[in-house]
Amino acid sequence: MISNTGFVVFIHPEQATTAIPAGRLTLLEQDAELLQSSFGYGRQYVERQNRLALDPLTLALPGDGPAVLRAPPITPQGPLPEFGVFRDATPDRWGRRLIENKLQRLDPLAESVYLLHGGANRTGALDFRDDPTSPAPVNELAQLLDLGYLKEAAERVEAGEIIPARLEKIFDAGSSMGGARPKAVIEADERQWLAKFPMPGDAFSMPQVEYATLMLAREAGLQVPPLRLEDIGEKRPVMLIERFDRIRAGDGYSRRHFLSALTLLARHESDSPNTSYADIAEAIATHCAADTIKADLAELFGRMVFNILVHNNDDHLRNHGFIWDGATGGWRLSPLYDVVPAATHAKTRHLHLGVGHQGRLATLPNAMTQHGVFGLTRPQAIDLIEQIAAVVREWKNTFETAGVDGQDIDHISHAIRSPRDAGLNAL
Ligand SMILES: Nc1ncnc2c1ncn2[C@@H]1O[C@H](COP(=O)(O)OP(=O)(O)OP(=O)(O)O)[C@@H](O)[C@H]1O
Ligand SMILES: [Mg+2]
Repeated sequence: MISNTGFVVFIHPEQATTAIPAGRLTLLEQDAELLQSSFGYGRQYVERQNRLALDPLTLALPGDGPAVLRAPPITPQGPLPEFGVFRDATPDRWGRRLIENKLQRLDPLAESVYLLHGGANRTGALDFRDDPTSPAPVNELAQLLDLGYLKEAAERVEAGEIIPARLEKIFDAGSSMGGARPKAVIEADERQWLAKFPMPGDAFSMPQVEYATLMLAREAGLQVPPLRLEDIGEKRPVMLIERFDRIRAGDGYSRRHFLSALTLLARHESDSPNTSYADIAEAIATHCAADTIKADLAELFGRMVFNILVHNNDDHLRNHGFIWDGATGGWRLSPLYDVVPAATHAKTRHLHLGVGHQGRLATLPNAMTQHGVFGLTRPQAIDLIEQIAAVVREWKNTFETAGVDGQDIDHISHAIRSPRDAGLNAL
């Protein structure tokens, strides 16, 4: 059956705790398949002083002329049926599984259903409502004490079981965010955190290793949100990463508008492996404020180098993000997230994104082939690499401090390389 579903898209202006309508989104769907979408800004929004383009490329603000109805971008793979910015605010594999479980449906649902069920905890500053006067969705925030229940519920969802009433909090807490791993949003110490759970099928203590890797990245000088490791009375702990898109404001939270790199580059998901760090650098140079470009380019170069050294090959375009920064009037690279070393016995390694002139080859000399694109002179790039390499060389200390056990350290030693093996001496 073909249907047309319309939403009013709201945005929370920076520092505000309530949202305003920005425009109207219409989705044309045939059962579970999204055929087409269109979006038009509302006149009042366009006339506001602090109006913000929801996506600078695809949804640039109109000038003084009549309101235009826009369609998603056309990529080398053909026209996209959905705007990336709204897809970024919609759950991914994990959230979709939860929503299907909640609605007790086995078959995939329409995109509009997933979009709406993302609720108040969704990524970024957007909200989707039926009409301009609809009340804001309210989702009670789960607390630290709920972690054990949320994890039990997550396991049951992964096992395809129906969730008993006592565990239903997972639907509000877990459905909103993107990504494939089981996760939930919780509140602790008046902040919001993304909790990532260990699962019985994990080959190692995944959230703990992610925590240790992000701590290592922070020691190496990269921008990493506050992190916590929570013991829930089981063998493996839960990792908490503070949400960079929620800021405490009075009794509530204000929100920050988020775009994945996939959206800012207007790519199709399947274009991701044909995209490079240099392409993200170009997006930074285009969309970030002049004052911040240099720092964000160097940060991106550092992230690429770090990913080479720890062999994080899940560095796809949704795992790089941007946050709107009203203070500078530009986009900024978001803090780092989702970095996990991938163990392998292969000597030749590749990242997901292109590194340099030798494509996705994960070596430091390959990273150096394009240092200029990241605004770095050769000596500056080598200094940065050496700074990161010096920290990664001592990775076992950081992992041991994070409580990673010997077996998992052995496992991860097949991922993290000595900087020499990654080509440091050839620079
Ligand atoms: N600290 C954070 N603050 C705000 N949003 C975040 C944060 N960390 C992650 N996100 C958002 O949540 C999404 C899912 O998180 P993450 O990438 O860690 O999950 P994942 O399930 O491991 O992902 P993947 O499917 O790539 O393995 C990210 O793509 C990003 O949009
Ligand atoms: Mg991810």
